[in-house]
Amino acid sequence: MDRIFSGVQPSGNLHLGNYLGAIRNFVRLQDQYECIYCAVDMHAITVWQDPEELRQSTRELAAAFIAAGLDPKSNVIMNQSQNPNHAELAWIFNCVARLGWLNRMTQFKEKAGKDRENASVGLYAYPNLMAADILAYKATHVPVGEDQKQHLELCRDIAQKFNHDFKTELFPIVEPLILGPATRVMSLRDGSSKMSKSDPSDNSRINLTDGPDAIAQKIRRARTDSEPLPSEAAGLEGRAEAANLVGIYAALADREIADVLRDFGGSMFSDFKGALTEVAVDKLGPIGEEMQRLVADPAYIDSVLADGGARARAITAPIMAEVYETVGFIGS
Ligand code: TYM
Repeated sequence: MDRIFSGVQPSGNLHLGNYLGAIRNFVRLQDQYECIYCAVDMHAITVWQDPEELRQSTRELAAAFIAAGLDPKSNVIMNQSQNPNHAELAWIFNCVARLGWLNRMTQFKEKAGKDRENASVGLYAYPNLMAADILAYKATHVPVGEDQKQHLELCRDIAQKFNHDFKTELFPIVEPLILGPATRVMSLRDGSSKMSKSDPSDNSRINLTDGPDAIAQKIRRARTDSEPLPSEAAGLEGRAEAANLVGIYAALADREIADVLRDFGGSMFSDFKGALTEVAVDKLGPIGEEMQRLVADPAYIDSVLADGGARARAITAPIMAEVYETVGFIGS
């Protein structure tokens, strides 16, 4: 059976982009694939994390997975640091990936900003650990939002180079699954920048834990232009904010963009925003409530993560043995 691996960083402020670009698709794919869904705490510490907040955010992310509909029995739900094989394989990939490949990673450039010299080495090598996450399980498919595409191309390059250098077919060449009408949800305050956990303005994003009032207020304040909505998708071109809100609506309501515009073409944003608030509260409200209920029981969450960790190690142990043998390491 084909296998899925995907990860989300437990760095707080889980938002609508994480949900529509990733977590919702995880839920939809769980019946078709064997799935491993991971809170990538080792990726999170590539930038400073307060230890207690990291623990809290990891539990909150696991709660979001479950609240969104992932079954912790039929899927592996775990945090990355439970399985040391990720880090071991990442080291080997540090020796496979080329500096030139990593130098091209746009996400490193964005995150390191102007002060590159002061970025952690982990932030630079981040994509190698991501490739190890996936390939330690020989995962074949990886559901992600649009922004992870370049990292997955690097993962393919690493698998190809490893296979070529060691004359083996050990690693699969993974397929990204970038699904749905909202693969790149933009900030509610600026249609040219991505909705992100690290945006200092909380009004830029809808958090999964936002209640109905916060959701309504953020949508009301969302930036738009002054034209009515177009009746065809072509009319969204050059209107980033409008395109973003229509994409969000389509994703939440499970409809095609063209279909949404057939209904709302000619409407003013004030009307459309009312409908958007309704569908957002309807879909996200129950998830947020269930998350709150689950995080109130950290012992349960920790047991899910420990169980996931044990199952994850059982999958990767024989694969790592194969890797060690291939590379020429003595031992298991
Ligand atoms: P992270 O934690 O930044 O985001 C988690 C998932 O959410 C998606 N996403 C978005 N989708 C649509 N619109 C947005 N505005 C938006 N923001 C985030 C991301 O594409 C991602 O799917 N490097 C990864 C985590 C990772 C991983 C992996 C993913 C580590 N190892 C192995 C897949 C496989 C990251 O930082 O995601």
